[in-house]
Amino acid sequence: MIEETMNYETAVTQTLNQHMSVRSFLDKAVPDEMLRSILNAARRSPTSSNMQTYSIIVVRDPATRQQLAVLAGNQKHVEECDVFVGFLADINRLGIASEMHGETLAKSLETSLVATVDAALVGMSVQTAAESFGLGAVMIGGMRNQPQQVAELLGFPPGVYMVYGMSLGWPAVETPAELKPRLPESLVIHYEQYDASDPHPRIAEYDAALAEYYGQRNQNAAAWSAPIAKRLNKPSRPRLRQTLEGMGFHFE
Ligand SMILES: Cc1cc2nc3c(=O)[nH]c(=O)nc-3n(C[C@H](O)[C@H](O)[C@H](O)COP(=O)(O)O)c2cc1C
Repeated sequence: MIEETMNYETAVTQTLNQHMSVRSFLDKAVPDEMLRSILNAARRSPTSSNMQTYSIIVVRDPATRQQLAVLAGNQKHVEECDVFVGFLADINRLGIASEMHGETLAKSLETSLVATVDAALVGMSVQTAAESFGLGAVMIGGMRNQPQQVAELLGFPPGVYMVYGMSLGWPAVETPAELKPRLPESLVIHYEQYDASDPHPRIAEYDAALAEYYGQRNQNAAAWSAPIAKRLNKPSRPRLRQTLEGMGFHFE
């Protein structure tokens, strides 16, 4: 069937090819049944060893979203979206399953990573499914600014943290608009062997493309390499490991 497709495009690749993060939303509700359809489709995502080490939390309450917006570093779109969805690494349930059989869950880096990856995968599926309905979304990594406070606000048991959240709603901007350029294909996709040939010209090419993109929007953002250099010259969220370990994870 797919072999016969002339242009190798499907509804899914079209949705992926039109992805853009949306940070401003109409005052219009996402129907509950649409949301359930999206979330349940996403639950078909692959999950490491079928362990399903994630949970999803849906937050519609405006007061709670307002507090989450503050915890995420005053990100207004967390407050102003219609629905906020959190993707949680959840090893609490693994602990319960272990206890059901007289065992104790051995916490490890691997288990913590598996839970984090599972949460990331299901969230990506939610984003794609939501966009296929014409909804807009932006992922919110700012939820890791203050993970303990997020956990307390939303009543997480030990062994649960929000890997990232997602503001979801009907876009108040035109979609698809001109999309944010990505790094050159040859820098990112390697065939058979990693191509380590001089990346500098292709990074410079991308810096120029991204600067042009921001320039057209009067957005005062630098291109790609300069902000990375500035941002990553010191560890980001330096206390994150200690905080997550205090919440029942293990990252050593
Ligand atoms: C894990 C993750 C966390 C993110 N966190 C934030 C965030 O806290 N706030 C925000 O405005 N955008 C956030 N983003 C969106 C990215 O900034 C965006 O995807 C990226 O700039 C590419 O732009 P595009 O999605 O419009 O193509 C996040 C994206 C990912 C994948």
